[in-house]
Amino acid sequence: MTVHFIGAGPGAADLLTLRGCDILASCQTCLYAGSLIPEEILSHCPEGVNLINTAPIDLDKIIEHIEEAHEKGHDVARLHSGDLSVWSAMGEQLRRLKATGIPFSVTPGVPSFAAAAAALGAELTLPELVQSVVLTRTSGRATAMPESESLGNFGRTGATLCIHLSVHVLPKVIEELAPHYGGDCPVAIVWRASWPDQKIIHGTLETIEALTSDEITRTALIMVGRSLGAEKFGESRLYADDYDRRFRPRGIHPRFPETKG
Ligand SMILES: C[S@@+](CC[C@H](N)C(=O)[O-])C[C@H]1O[C@@H](n2cnc3c(N)ncnc32)[C@H](O)[C@@H]1O
Repeated sequence: MTVHFIGAGPGAADLLTLRGCDILASCQTCLYAGSLIPEEILSHCPEGVNLINTAPIDLDKIIEHIEEAHEKGHDVARLHSGDLSVWSAMGEQLRRLKATGIPFSVTPGVPSFAAAAAALGAELTLPELVQSVVLTRTSGRATAMPESESLGNFGRTGATLCIHLSVHVLPKVIEELAPHYGGDCPVAIVWRASWPDQKIIHGTLETIEALTSDEITRTALIMVGRSLGAEKFGESRLYADDYDRRFRPRGIHPRFPETKG
């Protein structure tokens, strides 16, 4: 018996990985994280599956369900939205499973920041302009931010910011970032990236608040940075004609002569 943690992706059912799909089809019990997992993804579960929505239950109860399945020898699929490496609450579940000796596996999913970037048709790292992406959030009712991880501190770096769980405090986000990025810095709010009703709002730190609507709540990312919509940036050296590299040696003394020809 194994508990398989599966990143379900950002919402679109066809963004579930093939591996995730196969594992889902093989598990007799499936615990899934409420409204963020579309029904179409759950349809990959086998007939007669024991489906449990974890939205209304607490960690102890989740572990109880897993232990019950363990006693029956049932594999468990544990679905979380996006990828499991960020804000999935997987860490605390793994700690409990390790303590009880229940085996587990982890299958990654498409994270929401990647789906939002795709919706924008944007590369978040552009040569000579921005080379770092920060996945962050603001303090919430359930989770406080460590003091050093303020938007202001990240803002000082000029990195592209993908701000999760924060659209409800947009004015505060703007206030903290404007001194670092400038009021004309591009911002995009991507709501329900990859879902059929996805919405995108483009603006700047100065204009975005007036452009957004009350409808944009919860499942939204605030993307901030000079990489958004930029036209002025360098080209990657990797594809430059004169760049000497393993698969395309250049010059009289190529760095990787053995691959020449
Ligand atoms: C609890 S976190 C889960 C993050 C998830 N593990 C991931 O990989 O993206 C929930 C937050 O992620 C963001 N989010 C998740 N799915 C999204 C989507 N389809 N479109 C936009 N933002 C999304 C929102 O900021 C939301 O408040």
